[in-house]
Amino acid sequence: MVAKSGRHFLQIPGPTNVPDRILRALAQPTIDHRGPEFATLGKEVLLGLRAIFKTAAPVVVYPGSGTGAWEAALVNTLSPGDRVLMFETGQFATLWKDVAVRFGLAVDYVAGDWRTGVDPKVVEAKLAEDKGHAIKAVAVVHNETSTGVVSRIAEIRKAIDQARHPALFMVDTVSSLGCIDYRHDEWGVDVAVSASQKGLMLPPGLCFNALSDKAIAATKSARLPRSYWDWQQMLRDNAGGFFTYTPSTNLLYGLREAIAMLNEQGLDATFARHARHGEAARAAVKGWGLELVATDPREYSGCVTAVLLPSGHDADALRKLILERFDMSLGTGLGKLKGKIFRIGHLGDFNDLMLAGALAGVEMGLTLAGVPFRKGGVAAALDRLTVA
Ligand SMILES: Cc1ncc(COP(=O)(O)O)c(C=O)c1O
Repeated sequence: MVAKSGRHFLQIPGPTNVPDRILRALAQPTIDHRGPEFATLGKEVLLGLRAIFKTAAPVVVYPGSGTGAWEAALVNTLSPGDRVLMFETGQFATLWKDVAVRFGLAVDYVAGDWRTGVDPKVVEAKLAEDKGHAIKAVAVVHNETSTGVVSRIAEIRKAIDQARHPALFMVDTVSSLGCIDYRHDEWGVDVAVSASQKGLMLPPGLCFNALSDKAIAATKSARLPRSYWDWQQMLRDNAGGFFTYTPSTNLLYGLREAIAMLNEQGLDATFARHARHGEAARAAVKGWGLELVATDPREYSGCVTAVLLPSGHDADALRKLILERFDMSLGTGLGKLKGKIFRIGHLGDFNDLMLAGALAGVEMGLTLAGVPFRKGGVAAALDRLTVA
């Protein structure tokens, strides 16, 4: 390991770089979470989050990680034995499915190749077959962080409508919120799942459910056991700006700052920045003559680029070399992609030179690791970044 100097490059697809403004916001004295000053903070972040999810409905905030918000989405709306339609798009879809199975839900898990997103046509066909409306929920991961593949949520909504099916629509936006356009109300999503450590530029520790009236109504008949994740008491307390149990006060300071930053930058400009960085990263991969995991250009991610190494080359050995030599963390291959791919995170608080530096680290690493590739990927990315 060479002696470290300068900044570490955190290029995993979350947790992402926490901007100084947010770090400073976190470093304020913790206040009484039952006092009037807290109520102002609580109301401000609960309202501010609605704009980020593009919803007029409540957003529930928990101290927890995204995995908790997966569980919360299911236990608040469903009953043991309910059928749920899920899709094997990658590791995170698989983990959400595992949560559902552990709770005794009957998951119809549509097999996938981990290189493509949810096919709206399959959604429509599956729901059209279900004449008795036994399927109670359709659950989809928006940006599959393990593969860099984005499922087309608006089209999936249309497919559900086309089948005239009343299932709840649940979407995991853990790595898309604040990075890729997400329209909770317009797309008729009933429960969105998200977390703090990706596009919101915060440390890990908060997770979210954005709701709909239909989702809130479903809590009345849902019989899965729930306590910590129960929306009902939380929504009552949130109305006054308070939380049912001790909230992550300092992370909420950070959240207030993150929402302000996203609003200052503008959501559309933020989405465009992510899309452009995705294009430049893919230009680099193409320039290197390597293969993307994502195969359908309509599903390319602006958050993360997953790259396959030629067979016989260990992606984790490459990552280790790059970490030791250049002090850069890249995302590892997860689940069945372990050792076969590496992932370049380009989401959150990020800019052109950070991307250029990250890609330069990858190109140098490929050389040192003896991976067969063409030089010039970085140059191709720079060309993409300098298009007027
Ligand atoms: C798309 C997606 N969903 C869910 C999760 C799980 O979130 P957590 O690790 O915060 O529990 C992750 C984590 O990276 C993710 O990327």
